[in-house]
Amino acid sequence: MKNERLLGFVRSFSSFLAVDRSEPAILVEGARLLASLVEQDDWLQEEFARPDPTFYQQYLLYADPLERFSMVSFVWGPGQKTPVHDHMTWGLIGMLRGQELDTRFHLQADGSLKPGETRILAPGQVAYVSPATHDVHQVANYYSDQTSISIHVYGGNIGRISRHVFDPSTGTPKTFISGYGNDVVPNLWR
Ligand SMILES: [Fe+2]
Repeated sequence: MKNERLLGFVRSFSSFLAVDRSEPAILVEGARLLASLVEQDDWLQEEFARPDPTFYQQYLLYADPLERFSMVSFVWGPGQKTPVHDHMTWGLIGMLRGQELDTRFHLQADGSLKPGETRILAPGQVAYVSPATHDVHQVANYYSDQTSISIHVYGGNIGRISRHVFDPSTGTPKTFISGYGNDVVPNLWR
């Protein structure tokens, strides 16, 4: 029963991609499907919801065999946050549990990156990133005393994509490939 919701998303999103691969349409339909996935917090298996005491975790939930998209659970321990980073592809962020702070960064004339607006994401809400509009941000757990979890969908195999973290004061990029925190993925037919 538990993974039926996840399977439902994978099926619906895969079916959608079979007929429409345009990013604006993907972001609208993907956000609608992701919102319906995260509106209930009763499906994520415990092993993909486990925080690490030191680092935030990125667990692969599903990767499309053609690498058209991937899904991960991001698990934030108390007070944990990402560096300023990009994605090099579109991404949808659906808040499942707790809350997180999503801060966009804007490139300045001197090459530095300046923090802009910060959005608080509450359970059920969906945000997005895109190289076409805004791809650089920093995400932090809103809470200093509890775990927060968001479900992300990306337009590629995000754990294998070469992308960047930035020193915001200089804008200097450093290449990284994130990988995934898990060696096994959920059994969607459990
Ligand atoms: Fe991100």
